[in-house]
Amino acid sequence: MTEDSLPHRLVEELQTAEHIVVLTGAGVSAESGVPTFREAQTGLWAKYDAQELATPAAFRRNPKLVWDWYQWRRGLIWSASPNEGHYALAQLEQLCPRFSLITQNVDGLHQEAGSVNVIELHGNLWRNRCFANGHPVDPGGEILAPDTDGPPRCPRCQSLLRPDVVWFGETLPRSSLDAAYAAAQTCQLFLVIGTSAVVHPASSIPYVAAESGALIVEINPERTPLTPHADFALHRPAGQIVPRLVAHAWPNAHTTRTN
Ligand code: OAD
Repeated sequence: MTEDSLPHRLVEELQTAEHIVVLTGAGVSAESGVPTFREAQTGLWAKYDAQELATPAAFRRNPKLVWDWYQWRRGLIWSASPNEGHYALAQLEQLCPRFSLITQNVDGLHQEAGSVNVIELHGNLWRNRCFANGHPVDPGGEILAPDTDGPPRCPRCQSLLRPDVVWFGETLPRSSLDAAYAAAQTCQLFLVIGTSAVVHPASSIPYVAAESGALIVEINPERTPLTPHADFALHRPAGQIVPRLVAHAWPNAHTTRTN
């Protein structure tokens, strides 16, 4: 693909698909300044040990360390805004007859950009639940308050609160995973954007779509294990390429961006 050309067939598919599904990963938020996980110099797992910060065992061992790390990430994301890629995906949802956005991200930036039908596979950083019983706890305005003593406690059972995200070794929310597989099985076009495509079970979803006959499109500056299986691989940042795809397919559409 040259700088100015987009595959004609892809633009046509965007225009005619009855159901488009998108799977996103941390790369879609990279242009908002949110660190990804596996990039060599800048990824969170290059600097921090996931086993010390993102497992139930880590929380049992040192709840304050884990809580403080997630509070730090909340602070980072709090000051981030959706980028052009997030806004273009929200616009795409308005333009095509049926649309599902599956995300591995926990930052809430898709919703902030206006996406509505969002399937969160790995939870959401802005929610809490208690560690012992899973009681959901509305964080209210306390989320960024300094926590000198570690995690606050559940008002119902007094066990420690944790962020409502999926940690290594935990299962994904069943209803989200079922919804993601169902969407993959019924779409004609499946876009995989900004994910290293290595974390199971999210990484298996594009293959389900391919087996069901969908065209697979990857948008990522780097190659991934999915690249050889994609019908199109666009090696560009999401914030550049997704708005261009939408603008090419719907030249008369007005942007839905409100800020
Ligand atoms: P990764 O950090 O593994 O991968 C991010 C991908 O985004 C890489 O392939 C980058 O090349 C790509 N990327 C970087 N900048 C981009 C841009 N501007 N546009 C498009 N792509 C770009 O993140 P994920 O694949 O999301 O899980 O990681 C999956 C899961 O692993 C995460 O949800 C998290 C992590 O451990 C949990 O916390 C459970």
